[in-house]
Amino acid sequence: MNKNLMLISVYPELLSHCSCLKADSIKSLFQSDLTRFQSMTVSVAGLLLDYSKNQVTDETLRLLLQLAKECGVATVRDAMFSGQKINVSENRAVLHTALRSSRSESIFVDGEDVILRIQSVLDRMQSLTQKVLSGEWKGYTGKRITDVVNIGIGGSDLGPRMVVRTLRRYWLDAVKVHFVSNVDAHDLESVLDRVNPETTLFIVSSKSFTTKETIMNAQSARQWFLDSGADVADVRKHFVAVTANVDEAESFGVHEANIFPMWDWVGGRYSVWSAIGLPVMLAVGVNHFMEFLSGAHTMDVHFREAPLERNMPVLLALIGIWNRNFLGYHTLAVAPYHEDLFVFSRWLQQLEMESNGKGVQKNGEPVTCETSPVILGNTGTNGQHSYFQLFHQGTDICPVDFIAVLKPSHSFDKHHAVLLANCFAQAEALMRGADPQKAKEYMLAKGIPAERVESLLKQTQFEGNRPSNMIVMNELRPETLGALMALYEHKVFVQGVIWNINSFDQWGVELGKALATNIHKELTGEAVFEHDSSTAGLIELAKAAL
Ligand code: F6P
Repeated sequence: MNKNLMLISVYPELLSHCSCLKADSIKSLFQSDLTRFQSMTVSVAGLLLDYSKNQVTDETLRLLLQLAKECGVATVRDAMFSGQKINVSENRAVLHTALRSSRSESIFVDGEDVILRIQSVLDRMQSLTQKVLSGEWKGYTGKRITDVVNIGIGGSDLGPRMVVRTLRRYWLDAVKVHFVSNVDAHDLESVLDRVNPETTLFIVSSKSFTTKETIMNAQSARQWFLDSGADVADVRKHFVAVTANVDEAESFGVHEANIFPMWDWVGGRYSVWSAIGLPVMLAVGVNHFMEFLSGAHTMDVHFREAPLERNMPVLLALIGIWNRNFLGYHTLAVAPYHEDLFVFSRWLQQLEMESNGKGVQKNGEPVTCETSPVILGNTGTNGQHSYFQLFHQGTDICPVDFIAVLKPSHSFDKHHAVLLANCFAQAEALMRGADPQKAKEYMLAKGIPAERVESLLKQTQFEGNRPSNMIVMNELRPETLGALMALYEHKVFVQGVIWNINSFDQWGVELGKALATNIHKELTGEAVFEHDSSTAGLIELAKAAL
């Protein structure tokens, strides 16, 4: 425990195993074990993870599991669930799992049972939701609320935005939910153009209530609201806040009764399960929100109780460690084959890269191994027609997490088989590569002259041996989405433990914020700072234009 990967005793064994295994392609591993699919799948909470299309054997997994044990994954996991302050650099507990646990549990932080607090906020969220959806909550001219605008950024935007988008089938349509995140006011303007101040409820979502983008957007929205003829006293009917900084929200003008607290033990990118999920509850209703929490809870229970060798988040994490630290792959693509998961890769980018994009260990020493891969992705089949070319033939190998949903929720009955066929075919093609003999026969059959076939064959080479995971669910429902998100949260956690980094802070984002404050002062003529010639030149250009 508390050691970087390379100092773990099983590491040299893993390294030598890796150099031996490189000779065995994934395709050959399938040929030598016909039961590979059965032995390399695990199911829980409505999800099936097939990790058989990775360059791993039972021996690889045995060694990786040994690594997880030696790194103390189970001990740190239990410390997290029990409320110990594992976010050491901020001296905070990490308890997003408590937000989806049952009412009967007790979890103490600093001597206080957090479950009671969570339940009381959930009750308040339900009450607001019922009032808004039933029309009991009235705007300043006595009309019911028709639109909800969430103003937040990072975890205060991406979680609820992704979940609302994904659960499109469950929208109640009593209100339309919109999201504004970017300080670029084209974002705010495009939403305000579509809503009416008399019937719009703004949710200002910011754990800190100091995030510049959010506060500026909230102030501009408030001004827009007042400019429509409303009084300052009306602000309380149109602005609610979700924050850990209740004082700042009150000074902004949100009435105390409309401030939904969150706590320092909920990280921004893990916060959709808290009152930050209010837009989700308003979009899909209380029951579906509860189902979403309960799906995540099922994954939590599994993560806590299943043996490491059958533990889905642990296995997904270890495959990621293998690909990143032993096979040396720098990126990870996520390809959900369901259009409603359109925002999923953006949510995952923050989760993985803000959590584990770290170069310093928990003890302050530099890390001695690679940490988070770069995450990218888009829904299938769209990605296939843009960057999948590189996945198949590029000089870098990019492992892919495919997400397949077996049953569609639309009624165009011919489409779904085509979609699934594409999803499975991509994973198969990445693993198998092209058979030159078959390619030759195919081209000859198409009438391509033999001399051209020879030269074309070189171009059409696919070596294959490119790894992927397949996550399959029967249907995209609130519970399965909750479970899927919790799966990735715990995967990120396990990898953070193995890399000995703190997955719950984000000091790297601070420098840019500080420099932006200075540059802003320069753009508005309040101060001058020293810069390199590029930055200085760009500031001059902007000053001339502003
Ligand atoms: O700048 C990064 C960050 O702190 C994220 O971690 C967080 O999700 C986001 O900004 C928004 O923070 P807040 O909810 O405090 O406005």
